[in-house]
Amino acid sequence: PFSEAEVQSARGAWEKMYVDAEDNGTAVLVRMFTEHPDTKSYFTHFKGMDSAEEMKQSDQVRGHGKRVFTAINDMVQHLDNTEAFLGILNPLGQKHATQLKVDPKNFRIICDIILQLMEEKFGGDCKASFEKVTNEICTHLSNVYK
Ligand code: HEM
Repeated sequence: PFSEAEVQSARGAWEKMYVDAEDNGTAVLVRMFTEHPDTKSYFTHFKGMDSAEEMKQSDQVRGHGKRVFTAINDMVQHLDNTEAFLGILNPLGQKHATQLKVDPKNFRIICDIILQLMEEKFGGDCKASFEKVTNEICTHLSNVYK
């Protein structure tokens, strides 16, 4: 559960990222794919994954970046309502575990990249305000695997 103050500061931090949802979502994915190339193995159906330059232009990567950021945005709107928050996270965790078979260690990797980008673009306070959210996301996405 998030306190009222945590909800407010996490929302403020996320809004800064979400105004450029597609660009920032794409930047997160491109960094994940280049720094952790094994994560590309889940996206073999994406074309143009050979270089960061290609990935940045790819409609598939851009569309997926937007989709991931939209999902996080929905979660952020429900930080003050645990039932609704988990109502978004649990089915998503289920899908990643059973259908997509994503190794849960990758959730921490993508969340750390999100925090890193927040810090680079908006500073350490922005990152700090969002850490609890990414921790919750990682915990609950991984719950399904236990
Ligand atoms: C699909 C969100 C992490 C691999 C999706 C979808 C969403 C999403 C909303 C679309 C689901 C649907 O169509 O019903 C997230 C969030 C993550 C996360 C919020 C963590 C913050 C990851 C990671 C990987 C991954 C770490 C692998 C390294 C995939 C794949 C798909 C997918 C392969 C299907 C893509 C496609 O075929 O279009 N994810 N995801 N996800 N996700 Fe994730």
